[in-house]
Amino acid sequence: MCGIIGYIGEADAVPIIVEGLKRLEYRGYDSAGIAVYNSGAFGVVKRKGRIAELEASLENANIFGKLGIGHTRWATHGEPNDANSHPHLGEKSRIAVVHNGIIENYKEIKGWLQEKGVKFASQTDSEVVAQLCEHHYDGDLMQAVIKVANILEGSYALGIMCLDEPDILMAIKKDNPLIVGISDDGNFIASDVPAILPHTTKVHYLNDKEIAILTKDDVKFYNMDSETIHREAETITWTMEGAEKGGYPHFMLKEIMEQPRVIKETIKNTLMDGANKNAIDSLDISHFNKVVITACGSACYAGIVGKYVFERLCRISVEVEFASEFRYKDPIVDDKTLVIVVSQSGETADTIGAMREAKKRGATTFAIVNAVGSTIAREADFTAYTAAGPEIAVASTKAFSAQLVLLYILAIRFAQKLGKIDDIKTAELIDEINALPEKATQVLEHTDYIQKYAAGSINSKSVFFIGRNVDYAISFEGSLKLKEISYIHSEAYAGGELKHGTIALIEEGVLVVAISCCPSLYGKIFSNVEQVISRGARVLFVSTEDTKEDDKLSLIKLPPVHELFSPSLSVIVLQLFSYYVAANKGLDIDKPRNLAKSVTVE
Ligand code: M6R
Repeated sequence: MCGIIGYIGEADAVPIIVEGLKRLEYRGYDSAGIAVYNSGAFGVVKRKGRIAELEASLENANIFGKLGIGHTRWATHGEPNDANSHPHLGEKSRIAVVHNGIIENYKEIKGWLQEKGVKFASQTDSEVVAQLCEHHYDGDLMQAVIKVANILEGSYALGIMCLDEPDILMAIKKDNPLIVGISDDGNFIASDVPAILPHTTKVHYLNDKEIAILTKDDVKFYNMDSETIHREAETITWTMEGAEKGGYPHFMLKEIMEQPRVIKETIKNTLMDGANKNAIDSLDISHFNKVVITACGSACYAGIVGKYVFERLCRISVEVEFASEFRYKDPIVDDKTLVIVVSQSGETADTIGAMREAKKRGATTFAIVNAVGSTIAREADFTAYTAAGPEIAVASTKAFSAQLVLLYILAIRFAQKLGKIDDIKTAELIDEINALPEKATQVLEHTDYIQKYAAGSINSKSVFFIGRNVDYAISFEGSLKLKEISYIHSEAYAGGELKHGTIALIEEGVLVVAISCCPSLYGKIFSNVEQVISRGARVLFVSTEDTKEDDKLSLIKLPPVHELFSPSLSVIVLQLFSYYVAANKGLDIDKPRNLAKSVTVE
């Protein structure tokens, strides 16, 4: 939610910041703005709408400078308009601030400053940071920032510039991500790695309440007592190609197509010696009497598939909880509970909250994360990384697929450790996993039919995704994909549960996507299909079994696959179906309305 970037160096900050904002636009796209320092003043341009609007305004603005900050906004406090866009300035225009997060006590601070006669220019919570900094500024920006940070409640990642100290860019964070990038051509702050990838792969991950002071050729870190902190930079392995469309019309399609490679890399990284394998091997699974998987959105749906696989292979009961619910339900977890936390970004506020709650109660936390060095990756007791690389489209695809295979391997290894499967069975299952990239490629080679079917489905008012067992588990992800990018209402339902009420909604023309990759349940799900067809529905049947098509039933046949791992193939069909529905509707697929990729607020 919201992306921030800052630069200090010898080059013009404006194009660097605009390019960086484009790479952060997935974090929010209600408005954007930039401020640069030049000759004793800030040049500021802020526009409602996408970065493209800001870029157009910048053409006539004639601002430039070697120090600057930029922001792309996902609105929380105050409607998306020019005034509420960041950067915000103090009323004397001596301090400029970009903020990602929510200042919970902004009303009190605003009231206090207004009583002192300070005039505000926006309705945002963020403006109080700039005004308060200016109020407390007494010739030393770091001391002013420390005072302000001691007053602020809530979450923040801040980039701060001061007219009186034009040789420094200052940053501080609490409960929202902020990285510092270093290069020979200047230094950077950013919400996320892709923003600065064209310039550097050397980064520092700021911890909460740490201050970074950047000059054009140096970076120093301090704690809230103004003491120097020593830090080592990490080198990011993500590449620029991963963060670019590479000829595809949308990031989402590119990321769908990347899945065989991502699955293969994740399998390799998890089976071979290395950090993932170490994390798995280090866990004494026999110590736990309960497993909880907690996450949000797609990551949580990967967890639901994981639950089926874990329970089948390990014979251990697994609960799956939305992180936003888990943290407030007085969860029953203790030191005998393993809590698996799943997150692409590693920065989702609800998931971080759930993980901290679990740790507080004595549970052991195991994180499955994509973003290296993110908060969840750093704070979990054990971390295994998915190898999805940068995922830019708001709708998760390749990160989800990587989460699935990591969960499968985790379940197999735990089952082996618990003695629930012998070495022969383990080897068989690993062979099945190793075959997934090739099978995923086969699914991606035949997209024409899905494309055609999707084109004929754009006027659907409501779509039901049904399945049983893992086919039911993967239905949640199919339904979410369709909702978030095509704006068509959809629901995931257990096939056998339809008749207990929801079948009342089935009428002429309703689309039902039925998934059937569990051979022993084929007859059961096919009965459900007949029930909906006889009430007027048309059915897209996604199955590993040959099935006769007719004017009501269309088949998408998948390659043979072990049923437990079949969600890795069926989900590709569901992703492509949603993608082509949205593409045929002419929607903004990579940046769907009201959403942001990384939800760093509650
Ligand atoms: O970064 P995370 O995996 O923690 O994000 C969780 C959800 O916000 C995310 O999966 C969201 O549901 C996506 N838009 C789904 O496509």
